[in-house]
Amino acid sequence: MDLLRVEQLTKRFGGLTAVDDVSFSVQEGEIYTIIGPNGAGKTTIFNLVSLIYPASAGRILYRGEDLTGLPPDRVVTRGIGRTFQNIELFEHATVLQNLLIGCHAQAQSNFIAEMLFLPSVKRREVEHRRRVETIIDFLDLQVHRDSRVAGLPYGVRKVVELARALCAQPKLLLLDEPSSGLNVEETDDMAYWIQDIRDLLGITVLMVEHDMSLVSRVSDRVLAVNYGKVLAEGSPSQVQSHPDVIAAYLGD
Ligand SMILES: Nc1ncnc2c1ncn2[C@@H]1O[C@H](COP(=O)(O)OP(=O)(O)OP(=O)(O)O)[C@@H](O)[C@H]1O
Ligand SMILES: [Mg+2]
Repeated sequence: MDLLRVEQLTKRFGGLTAVDDVSFSVQEGEIYTIIGPNGAGKTTIFNLVSLIYPASAGRILYRGEDLTGLPPDRVVTRGIGRTFQNIELFEHATVLQNLLIGCHAQAQSNFIAEMLFLPSVKRREVEHRRRVETIIDFLDLQVHRDSRVAGLPYGVRKVVELARALCAQPKLLLLDEPSSGLNVEETDDMAYWIQDIRDLLGITVLMVEHDMSLVSRVSDRVLAVNYGKVLAEGSPSQVQSHPDVIAAYLGD
């Protein structure tokens, strides 16, 4: 069954069509990657799926439910998590605090219950602490747990952002350029994390990525876009050898 199905999605910004009649679907358990030159519309597709932008046309179906037109907070409660191309964390908070905030993003809260710190709220806090510890162990972040994010190297902040997204217990995780700014060794680690997220946590991954060796290593299927339009879809090697894809990258 399609976990996510994007149908004829279009996004116009004034006179610019950033996403132009794009359709694809992501199967449960898949690692599906969107590639394309700079400005191709990849992040805009993510912003549409995350409901940050309303679509100009088309539909986004998640587990068969049409998300188009829902408020953006429904995305997290439905089980869709994401990371951002430019890391978005609370820079002056610690790793632990950022991850606890990640848990809260998904929790349905009741103001009165929170004020009175009712047993249900307390149980949830305990559960969040446990969940955060599991993710800290999973992504090897123990040494950084009490560090402020602002003081951490870029590569570690990328992993913290991944951890923050996992805290909301997504079923579908959107990763926007997980390897950007990482060195070869860190990229190699990131490839393992992404595979483990799918294989061990059972999370379906939709990612945007420029590093073709990472793309080939982890992706089940690849979608290539340019100027907002789909160029090709298929296995990593099929897409990389597609003449329109080669031309788009040479033209870039
Ligand atoms: N909020 C916006 N308002 C106006 N134009 C936008 C907006 N967001 C994106 N665009 C434009 O839409 C096009 C696609 O941008 P997008 O960020 O989706 O590309 P991308 O494929 O993610 O590129 P990159 O590889 O550089 O991250 C670009 O021309 C960009 O300038
Ligand atoms: Mg982008």
